[in-house]
Amino acid sequence: MKYPKMTAEEAADLIKNGDTLSFSGFTAAGTPREVPAALARRAKREHAKGREFKVDLFTGAVTNDGLDDALAKAHAVGRRMPFNGSSVMRSAINSGEVNYFDMHLSVVGQYVRYGFLGKVDFCIIEAVDLNDKGEIVLSGGVGCVDTYSQVCEKIIVELNHAYDVRIRGIHDIYTPASPPHRREIPIYEPSDRIGSPVLKVDPKKIVAVVDCNYRYNVKPFTPVDEVTAQLGRNVAQFLTDEYLSGRIPPEFLPLQSGVGNISNAILHSLQEAPEIPPFKLYTEVLQDQVIELIDMGRCTFASSGSLALSDEVYDKVMSNIEFYKQHIILRPYELSNHPEIVRRLGIIAINTALEADIFGNVNSTHVMGTKMMNGVGGAADFARNAYISVFICPSVAKGGSISAIVPYVSHLDSSEHSVMILITEQGVADLRGKNPRQRAETIIENCAHPSYRPLLRQYLHLMDGTDGHTPMSLSKAFSFHEEFMKSGDMHNVRF
Ligand code: COA
Repeated sequence: MKYPKMTAEEAADLIKNGDTLSFSGFTAAGTPREVPAALARRAKREHAKGREFKVDLFTGAVTNDGLDDALAKAHAVGRRMPFNGSSVMRSAINSGEVNYFDMHLSVVGQYVRYGFLGKVDFCIIEAVDLNDKGEIVLSGGVGCVDTYSQVCEKIIVELNHAYDVRIRGIHDIYTPASPPHRREIPIYEPSDRIGSPVLKVDPKKIVAVVDCNYRYNVKPFTPVDEVTAQLGRNVAQFLTDEYLSGRIPPEFLPLQSGVGNISNAILHSLQEAPEIPPFKLYTEVLQDQVIELIDMGRCTFASSGSLALSDEVYDKVMSNIEFYKQHIILRPYELSNHPEIVRRLGIIAINTALEADIFGNVNSTHVMGTKMMNGVGGAADFARNAYISVFICPSVAKGGSISAIVPYVSHLDSSEHSVMILITEQGVADLRGKNPRQRAETIIENCAHPSYRPLLRQYLHLMDGTDGHTPMSLSKAFSFHEEFMKSGDMHNVRF
């Protein structure tokens, strides 16, 4: 191979203070680990000498401990986008140390290509193989690497020998043209392939190849508890009712399911929904549960941007990879989340809310309106364009001291115009065709926890007898949140 071989330390030394670094991958899958970890060690050495050292990070989304954790601990991050799942990075974001901007994943690629975020110095790519023509076989995560590798000045490849080159053929790499030359994206079925099985980069940009050997260490999900199991049953029942009523066509429609423990539990519930025929997924991230659904024949095809599987399940997939290549495609998230495709395919989108208000507005990102949790990710890409847009959440959080159904969301990610159905373990609120007061009554009676219903009803009636389309009290809209900040329990609110 003609590229310079380097250690992670040597490759990290190529990076300068103030550089913008972009990364392959989506979740820990496909995300480089060794060069960012070496860079974090270097940043600490620079800081010990009294020198400034910070870089900007454009990732796929959630990363790994060598990237976000290590660089945040080293206080080496200036800007960070578009999504974060590291608790260490979260603290740095919420303290104001890191300049984080949270973005819809479907637009990250075009923002970068259009030059809205400035120049990108490096793209660091995890590969399982590459050749002298600059053809790279990616592993389990794609993210935004198609765009990052096009716009960057230099490329560092982490050649990870822990993963298997037989994965070649699962990827479909394609970048839409920029306006005014953009045409339709020709995906008409989740299984349509429109791009290349390998990432093609300019070989002249590759300045270092680092041999590595690391596993992603994605943790298996927490077992389904009674609340999430009931939530899952409610989702499965809702989809069954929609299907049997003819509002979903006989072939069924592709599903999108969000990230996290709750979404994994929802997919689990679809194992046991006998009236729902085998279905396809057109989604952003594939978690362990999807592999089980494919094995059972419940899921016939899954298009995604990442195989975010626990090590155990990843190994199982690799041991029968030719079979899974018939059932899985991995694409850049500009395609997996693209509004045009989501609308065309008629995706049924199921995403998790942190909180929702009685009118159906959803907060996916901010705890008590101020503290960033992770980011909006793809939730609103799907919700806004879906055939049916569902948001789910347990009705309470933190042992019941927080109601997930509040008078008004403390931060807005998906507005009432993008939310058709709200489901908690308590029940289903169908918001389609309802005015704000009707929506409020449905959400309070069907979705709120019984211990919060009297308080929410009291709030709703504060505006009785006044004019207005939406019964909202400007002075009391955040009373639940204020009460939690004051006493630690929303139950103590008094109107
Ligand atoms: N107020 C404060 N904290 C809340 C809360 C609320 N209303 N609702 C939930 N939480 C807390 C939980 O207590 C939990 O905290 P812990 O980690 O300290 O235990 C945490 O939020 C995560 O909640 P959990 O119930 O474990 O759900 P999850 O793992 O499914 O994550 C989201 C839920 C909303 C954080 C997650 O789905 C997310 O980041 N969504 C935004 C991006 C997205 O939807 N992407 C999908 C597109 S494909």
